[in-house]
Amino acid sequence: DWTMGAYRADAIAKIRAQVGKGRVICALSGGVDSSVAAILIHEAIGDQLTCVYVDHGLMRLNESEQVVSMFREHYNLPLIHADESALFLGKLEGVSDPETKRKIIGGLFIEVFEKHAKAIGGAEFLAQGTLYPDVIESVSFSGGPSVTIKSHHNVGGLPARMNMQLVEPLRELFKDEVRALGRELGLPQSFIGRHPFPGPGLAIRCPGEITAEKLDLLRRADAVYIDQIRKHGLYDEIWQAFAAILPMKTVGVMGDGRTYDYAVALRAVTSVDGMTADTYPFSHEFLGETMTRIINEVPGINRVFYDVTSKPPGTIELE
Ligand code: XMP
Repeated sequence: DWTMGAYRADAIAKIRAQVGKGRVICALSGGVDSSVAAILIHEAIGDQLTCVYVDHGLMRLNESEQVVSMFREHYNLPLIHADESALFLGKLEGVSDPETKRKIIGGLFIEVFEKHAKAIGGAEFLAQGTLYPDVIESVSFSGGPSVTIKSHHNVGGLPARMNMQLVEPLRELFKDEVRALGRELGLPQSFIGRHPFPGPGLAIRCPGEITAEKLDLLRRADAVYIDQIRKHGLYDEIWQAFAAILPMKTVGVMGDGRTYDYAVALRAVTSVDGMTADTYPFSHEFLGETMTRIINEVPGINRVFYDVTSKPPGTIELE
């Protein structure tokens, strides 16, 4: 893509001019935006960039390992894998309110990022994968107070607190352009096409209290569900699909025995921007096959629901 080739060269020149010999740190989430920003900046200034991947213990099955090894092996990019799962899960113990979960996770994220940034001697610049829609959204509602229905976590408080300047090489781009730039930079399609994943991760897909047992069941059920979607060639038709584990147990029967286990809710929606969404119309055959696989492959789950709620009135996530 020649347009993105030109954008890439121009962005690299701008990053070099802004940063000079300074040091940049970047919070890498594994999402497309922060990944593309990090790769672009690394191309511009090499090892003046350090990335920190904060592992909050709320990622999907094998996801942290996949993200970290992709960056280390494919891009040879300086990356700290901060495994802080014990800290996050400890502070979330017994917490069931959705907004409290988000506040705890957002606050710890900043704390942990700051700790690792200090440990490597700090930096003058903070890189962020801010997109054009993020820029306009913050001045929307005709200058009135911005309305947040859910407090989305980002590293907003950090630049001032750590006395850093922002480097935001994607500020002029829309999502589809970021994907094109990612392709230009050699990011694998499997990475570029990934469904959005919320910052608080599985915490908001585990309504009510989070426990290690529930997270484990959720991860395994979600992996089976996504595998089903991929096998049926449906992944790219869906905006977001995931399993959530419900805060209850139900009675079932298996073999000659009675079971009393957790239930999962499957969600899949189509959307243009995540602001409104429609339920994806899976066939009954697909849902039945997926139910059978989840219950056979994930002992501890004995019931599967499909969420048919659109947005509005529902939200995409369960919390
Ligand atoms: P909702 O559930 O509000 O989700 O309909 C809309 C989009 O936003 C994502 N989402 C979040 N992303 N922090 C994030 O970074 C959050 O707290 C959060 N809550 C929801 C959600 O995955 C969907 O793409």
